[in-house]
Parts: sequence; structure tokens; C-alpha cells
Amino acid sequence: MINVFGSRTGNEEIQNVTESLKAQWLGMGPKVTEFEARYKERLNLESFLMVDSGSNALFMAVTLLDLPKGSEVILPSFTWVSCAQAVMMAGHTPVFCDVDPFTMNATAEHIKAQITDKTGAIMVVHYAGLPVEMDDVKALGYPVIEDAAHAVDSHYKGTYCGGIADVGIYSFDAVKNIAVGEGGGITVKGEERAKRAKLLRYSGIGKSGFEASTQGKARWWEYNISEAFIKMNPSDIAGGIALGQLENLDDNQARRKEIWNTYQEAFKGLNDFVNPVDASADCKHSYFTYSIRLMNGKRDEFAKYLFDNGIYTTLRYHPLHMNPLYEQTNKTLKNCEMLNEDCLSIPLHPNLSDEDVQKVIHHVTAFVKG
Ligand SMILES: Cc1ncc(COP(=O)(O)O)c(C=O)c1O
Repeated sequence: MINVFGSRTGNEEIQNVTESLKAQWLGMGPKVTEFEARYKERLNLESFLMVDSGSNALFMAVTLLDLPKGSEVILPSFTWVSCAQAVMMAGHTPVFCDVDPFTMNATAEHIKAQITDKTGAIMVVHYAGLPVEMDDVKALGYPVIEDAAHAVDSHYKGTYCGGIADVGIYSFDAVKNIAVGEGGGITVKGEERAKRAKLLRYSGIGKSGFEASTQGKARWWEYNISEAFIKMNPSDIAGGIALGQLENLDDNQARRKEIWNTYQEAFKGLNDFVNPVDASADCKHSYFTYSIRLMNGKRDEFAKYLFDNGIYTTLRYHPLHMNPLYEQTNKTLKNCEMLNEDCLSIPLHPNLSDEDVQKVIHHVTAFVKG
């Protein structure tokens, strides 16, 4: 079966993990620190912390905004469940907005339609790695969280995604562009907020005993707990894999881009078939997933046909406002509901062979042409 998502690991990851094992250092340590420094530098971020998942980074991001309890946070319905869960876990209300049916990103207009006097913040998602029109979103005047889970290599007019607004998060789960298994990251603006993020990551504890002992503090085992929070430390095994992935990122991204461009060319002009949108000349795409639209009412049949021919596909995402947990929050979001019927992600990841890519093209084209 050709998988829809996947990752590619190399010798660097194996070597880094081996080093951690040989050093008998498994918990958060030098590999995480090195990854944080290199990632921050590559993306030119003001601050960066690695955490144990993108979902937890989202929860930390909402917490860091310090919104009045019960605030509304506007976010696209066409996103992963963690975005809304993070808002709820932080004591706020998710309010879903629609997305553009071609870019699959929320625009300022979609967001504006959901603003009330309880609106406290906006969460945007750079879907598939295509940057959201951030100037328009920022102009709305609310604090903004950027979910850059798909967008580690994307930039918006020269600024890497995640680093454009107040707080940005990344996911390094098993199939993301930097794939660690489980992992995530957070970047924030402002020194105070960055200090607080570091504190929150370790259960709200100011300093580890080890740090205190190296600073000559007597009774280094005592600590100040300033806030109640969940521990989000990543392991050094995860840090080592992340470092290797970062070293291989350009190669992996080049492969993603090559496959993306091959699909774009092969599917051009197919009837009832909509290719995903490329980034504009002043922005950069990350090619996390290749989501098409089949507008002839046969999307489910198409997915089944591909599956029967050894090609696994999926829909990212089943709109959140249609889920029983959230279905009361908004009545209708036309474009999200349309995407729920005609959108499909087809295989795109750096581990696909040329043969895999040709097989996908062959079967997609055969079905669509009938
Ligand atoms: C848009 C988006 N945000 C957040 C997450 C959560 O990331 P993680 O899987 O690292 O918890 C995901 C994961 O798929 C995602 O796609």
C-alpha cells in the first residue's frame, strides 16, 4: 500500500540517537538544546522551545495569551482537533470560521464574520504549508496564534511561518516535515513570555535541581513552582531525531517539492478536478500534504478505487463544527462542508519512489478521465 503520509530518516538520526544511548542520557538535555538553537537560527525566530507535541504546544500557546476566562478564540473548522481542544482546555470557547475553498486557509473576511464582543484571540492554520494572508489577519487587531504544524519550511513575505504573529507552534509528529515520532515546538514574541514558556514546559518549576547545583546554589533540590501546568519536556532521543531531521530537511523538502510539481503538471486540466494552490512568488510552501478536490460527487468512490489499487488517501480535515462535541457552536460553514464532500489528500512524502508517484498519477488520471 502506498501511504498518504510518511517520513524519511537517515544516518544522522541513527547516529544522534546512538550517541544519546551511549551517553546514557535519555531525558531532555544537550540534543534538545542543540536542536532548539539550530531551529531558531534557521527560521530566524525570536525564541524557540521544543516540547513533546504540537497539541501540547497549542495548549501552551493559548495559555500564554492570558485571555480573560471564557473568551472566544476564532479558528478554522477545517483543522485538526487539537486546535479546538487547546482552546477548551485553557478555559475558553472555540468559535469556528469558514475557509477559502481553494487555499483551504481562513481569510480575514472569514474570521471577521465570527467576531463578537467576547473575541479574545485568533488562531490561524497554514493549511498544507500554504501561508495564510497574515497582514490581513494581523490588521484585525487581536492576538494571533499561528498553527504552523504543516509549515516548518514555509515563509510569508520572507518571515518563516510561526514567527509572524504573537505565538506560533510546530508539530514534529511521525509524519510531519520534521518527523520525530512525537514532538512539537513553540515560538513566542517578547522576553517575558519566552521565560514563562520555559517555566511552563517543566510543570511551572523555575529551575531544575541540576541547573541550580551548577550555579552554586545550596539546597539545589528546592524549587519554586510559580504556576500549575502540565510537563511538556521532550526526551533527548526526540531531540536527536529532530536534529537529524533538520539536517536532512532541505533534501526531504526538495523531494516533497519535486513530487508536488510532478502532480501539479500531471493533473493540470483534468475535468472536475481542482489542484491545490501554489504559494505566491513572495511566499514559500512547505508541501506537507497534497489536497485535491473532485467536484463530480464521486470523491468517496474515487478514494475507494485508489484504496483497491493500493493507494491510501484520507481527508484532512473532517470539519470540527460537524463533530458532535462542537456541532452547536456554528450552524453552517459552507466551504468547510463542501470540502468535507469533495476534498482528498493523496500520497505526498519524501519516501515515495518515482514508481509510487507514477502509480498514483496513473490511477488518479484513469479514474477522473473515466
Ligand atoms: C494543523 C495541526 N495542528 C496541530 C497538530 C497537533 O500536532 P501533534 O500531532 O504534534 O500533537 C496537528 C497534527 O496533525 C495538525 O495537523
